[in-house]
Amino acid sequence: MAYVIGVDLGTSGTKTVLFDETGKVIASHTIEYPMYQPQNGYAEQDPADWREAAFQTIHAVMQTSGVKPEDVRGIGLSGQMHGLVMLDEGGNVLRRSIIWCDQRTAAECDEITEKVGAKRLIEITANPALTGFTASKILWVRNHEPEIYAKCRHILLPKDYVRYCLTGEFATEVSDASGMQLLDIPKRQWSDEVLEKLGIDKSLLAKVYESPEVTGRLTADAAAKCGLNAGTIVVGGAGDNAAAAVGTGVVRDGRAFTTIGTSGVVFAHTSEITIDPKGRVHTFCCAVPGAWHVMGVTQGAGLSLKWFRDQFCDTEKATARLMGVDEYYLMDKAALASPIGANKLLYLPYLMGERTPHLDPNARGVFFGLSGMHTKRDMLRAVMEGVTYSLRDCVEVCREMGVNVSDMMACGGGGSSPVWRQMLADLYDCPVKTVDSKEGPALGVAILAMVGAGIYGSVPEACDAILRTANVQEPVAENVPEYEKYYQMYRKLYPALKAQFAELAAM
Ligand code: XUL
Repeated sequence: MAYVIGVDLGTSGTKTVLFDETGKVIASHTIEYPMYQPQNGYAEQDPADWREAAFQTIHAVMQTSGVKPEDVRGIGLSGQMHGLVMLDEGGNVLRRSIIWCDQRTAAECDEITEKVGAKRLIEITANPALTGFTASKILWVRNHEPEIYAKCRHILLPKDYVRYCLTGEFATEVSDASGMQLLDIPKRQWSDEVLEKLGIDKSLLAKVYESPEVTGRLTADAAAKCGLNAGTIVVGGAGDNAAAAVGTGVVRDGRAFTTIGTSGVVFAHTSEITIDPKGRVHTFCCAVPGAWHVMGVTQGAGLSLKWFRDQFCDTEKATARLMGVDEYYLMDKAALASPIGANKLLYLPYLMGERTPHLDPNARGVFFGLSGMHTKRDMLRAVMEGVTYSLRDCVEVCREMGVNVSDMMACGGGGSSPVWRQMLADLYDCPVKTVDSKEGPALGVAILAMVGAGIYGSVPEACDAILRTANVQEPVAENVPEYEKYYQMYRKLYPALKAQFAELAAM
């Protein structure tokens, strides 16, 4: 039997899963690490945490499984997108990584738009200048920390830094590179025009591959730390969303998924490139060579529920520990005790600004309609509903662009909650399915490793062989109009508060 490893470098932790060639989980290990918020709107992580988590989790799955290193045919890497890792000449990390949800770069976004031109930027990078994306973070370091920028010789994305630690290669792949705002998305290669206009030296960037291609092999040193053989292949892998698409079989037109991780994403596969001229959703290269995807992102999805849990749910945490159940399971039960609309309480999930559809780094979270009768259960339900309303916003933009999103899968931590999946089905008014594997991105990049290792001939062929639909949740007819009322109210709240968000940010 052949085995592959999928490493998923998330925001809350790194999860590594060892699969056999049929996609069965043999062993899994997760290590968590912190996110630093030195100022309101800033978000950073330490690349050393990612590196150590990758080494240790790979080592742990090898130890616990007892699988022989020579039977591991390849490794795939998935990760949080957009983060900026800067290395010096000797490959040392120059500063903490400024990660995807950091919102400090509004001025640099204006600089990018001015230098490249708004229309040209969307034509080439398929997106307007965005605070989340890597290009504005690079300019921020150049503008605010010129001494660090002067020493920088290599710019990598989070998972590609781990690749460098594993293989010594400076490599990336099209799906994650799409989120740097330096890639020519239609041509799937670095844009000389954008790089020149922004004054970024191309030699700083990694070599771009397609996602299933072999990008390097484990060095002897890394192999020893991982409990694997030197020379084991590492394929391109994919940004977390493109990886989740493979892990849920969203690899053909008409297929889409919603993920509720730290961020929330609505992702639709497109074999032809389609770009929203208003830039409300991203168009990126996907992990299937030669294809793209359209993706709406809400910044604070699982993050909202995790924030609520950490601030207000110590009792649930303690009870869950006593009962030996997951704390989110108890929180799901509590949310169910409140009706649709949470007794007229609405929540805007803009804890870290918002992308789709508002593109506003200044937006912040809101509970709207609080009354003396509300309980923690209502607030919990409002948080889950608010995240779902923001995901519906993403679906609305896709539908407006003519992208078919009727075959909807759910994944991510939140996607494993039946309560949340029912909200999605009711608010999208379409069935929401899951695959029998819960491993999403880790399985996705493991599948890419199987293709890279020659076990399967193509990504769709591997998905057909490995993935099975587990569960279908249909919309409940009477819930649909009930939710619709609150969703329409939700849509009115951001425009009413837009100016005040900007005013608050400027205080
Ligand atoms: C996608 C995005 C997030 C991150 C973190 O554009 O910013 O989904 O990849 O998960």
